[in-house]
This record gives sequence, C-alpha cells and structure tokens, in this order.
Amino acid sequence: MRRIKKILVVGRRGQVGWELRRTLAPLGEITAVDHPDIDLSAPETLRSLVRDVGPDLVVNAAAYTAVDKAEDETELCRLINAEAPRVLAEEAARLGARFVHFSTDYVYNGRKDGRWVESDSPDPLSVYGRTKLEADLAIAATGVQHLIFRLQWVWGTRGGNFVKTMLRLSRSQEEIKVIDDQVGAPTYSRHIAEAAALAVARWDSQGGVYHLANGGETSWHGFAQAIFEEDPARSEQIVKSCLPIPTSAYPTKAERPLNSRLDQTRLLTDFDIRLPDWRSALRDSFEP
Ligand SMILES: NC(=O)c1ccc[n+]([C@@H]2O[C@H](COP(=O)([O-])OP(=O)(O)OC[C@H]3O[C@@H](n4cnc5c(N)ncnc54)[C@H](OP(=O)(O)O)[C@@H]3O)[C@@H](O)[C@H]2O)c1
Repeated sequence: MRRIKKILVVGRRGQVGWELRRTLAPLGEITAVDHPDIDLSAPETLRSLVRDVGPDLVVNAAAYTAVDKAEDETELCRLINAEAPRVLAEEAARLGARFVHFSTDYVYNGRKDGRWVESDSPDPLSVYGRTKLEADLAIAATGVQHLIFRLQWVWGTRGGNFVKTMLRLSRSQEEIKVIDDQVGAPTYSRHIAEAAALAVARWDSQGGVYHLANGGETSWHGFAQAIFEEDPARSEQIVKSCLPIPTSAYPTKAERPLNSRLDQTRLLTDFDIRLPDWRSALRDSFEP
C-alpha cells in the first residue's frame, strides 16, 4: 500500500478533528482546514482544495452535527454531511489516496434488542441520520479505499457536548432531569482520534464500516450521574437530585434511537483495537 506522506484533515476545530491533528502527526505532514478556509456547504469548491494539497490520506472530521436543527435545515445538512464527503472521497479516489470518515449510531433505528453490528440494515430516524447514511453509501460507491468509523455520544475538551452541559447545569440547578431509556456508550474524542490513527497505521487491505466507541454502556441519566460524581470541582455543584425521565417526557424535533449499543468485534478482529470503558475515559478527560 502507498506510504502516507501528506494528510488532509477536514474539520480541524471539531471535537474529533482537534484531537486528530495530534494523533495523526506522527504519520505524515498534516494540512488541517476548517471554516472559513473551506465551506462544506459548497461541496464542489472542495475539489481544488484536495488537488492543491495532494494528500495520500484524506480524513473528514467535519459534519453538520446540530441534530434537531437539521430537521429544519435539511438541504444544508445534506450538502455538508452527504455531498461534501462524496466529493472529498471522489477526489481522494482520483489521487489514489485513502479516505477516513466518521459516521454515527443514528443510522440505526434503535429497535434491536442486542448490540448493532455493521451488517445490520440501517434505518435512520432523523435528517441527520439519513444524511450521514447517504455519505456512508456514497463514499463506498466512489471506490476509494476507505475506513468509516460509526461513533456515538461523543464528548471532548473542545466544542459543546453533554459533559459540558451537565457541568454547567450542575452549577445552576438543584434538580436536573435526564433521559434514562436511551442506551449507548459515551465516547471520548481523544480516544476516537487515537484509535483512528492506530487503525491508519495498521491499515493493510481492510476497509469499510467499523463501529468505534468506548467500552461498556449506560443511559444519558447514568452518564450524567457519573459526570457529577467524577467532576473534579464537585464543591461548585448545587445540584441535589438527578431524576431519570423517559424520552417521551423530553420531546425533541429529531427522533433518537433508544438502543444505540454498538458491537465492536469487527474493529478488534481487523485492527486489534478496543477502547477503554467510558467511565475511565471520563475520568481521563477530567485530568488537567
Ligand atoms: N458529536 C457526537 O456525539 C457524534 C456522534 C456520532 C457521530 N459523530 C460524527 O463524528 C464526526 C465528528 O463529530 P464532532 O462531534 O467532532 O463534530 P463537531 O465538534 O460538531 O465539529 C464539526 C466540524 O465541522 C465543521 N463544519 C461544520 N459545517 C461546516 C462547513 N459548512 N464548512 C466547513 N466546516 C464545517 C465545524 O466547523 P465550525 O465549528 O466552524 O462550524 C467543526 O469543525 C462527525 O462526522 C459526526 O457526524 C458525532
């Protein structure tokens, strides 16, 4: 396989993109781009970007991730989440470069008893999920050699996320209600970026879709409780109770899957990669 010298990272300021700049650094010379250098909502403009950089590997960590807003901004979401990755993958294929992309548990409908495996039929419930699935299929159709990692419940030190929201609420509210009937594995963006870099370094003839998440499982309510318990500045909290509520008591514009548990056997078998348990990852992320 062609040696990687140049890497193009798209979405350098995102939760995952930010970490990728560090984890991919030992593998090649990185060009990392984001707003306003590029605009994924104008996908055709990305062709000259890829051609100018001439990478051996393109990593797309950018996406339209406002899941509820996407229900009202369908076309913008589709341009960014489906069309832009397709164009990037086409250009990577044209150069003979490899392509890494991130997808989501929201491509599944959540109505399975066990863990989802990559060969399960997707059935997204939301605009966001549908556009992400469209990308997964479009990337494969370009013929580019690719890895697509389906992630879930991502948090990190950059950007807005559930951990930051809970920490903020814990300082301003005595009672917090959190959904307890959606189940998955909270996943630390640094671990995602480390696993992706390791997979790239071990990449031989493997390819396709891989689930990638921290180990274990919990509900959003279980995650919230763990955040309050592991919070290194607990003395600043005023929260006294964290109440479990069903999804039906917290209506959102976009429907979310109830069971988001992802089987990760494929990642372990093909790349010998297994991420640590989500709770130890949470503790790690609180280390200064
Ligand atoms: N977050 C999750 O819980 C989650 C779960 C499953 C899968 N994923 C997937 O994992 C990947 C990484 O997610 P993340 O949480 O790291 O995302 P994020 O923090 O929301 O970052 C997304 C990045 O995309 C950029 N972007 C958005 N619209 C753009 C545009 N029109 N032109 C150029 N750049 C644009 C953003 O730039 P600005 O900040 O400047 O807008 C940002 O750098 C995505 O593919 C996402 O779908 C995420």
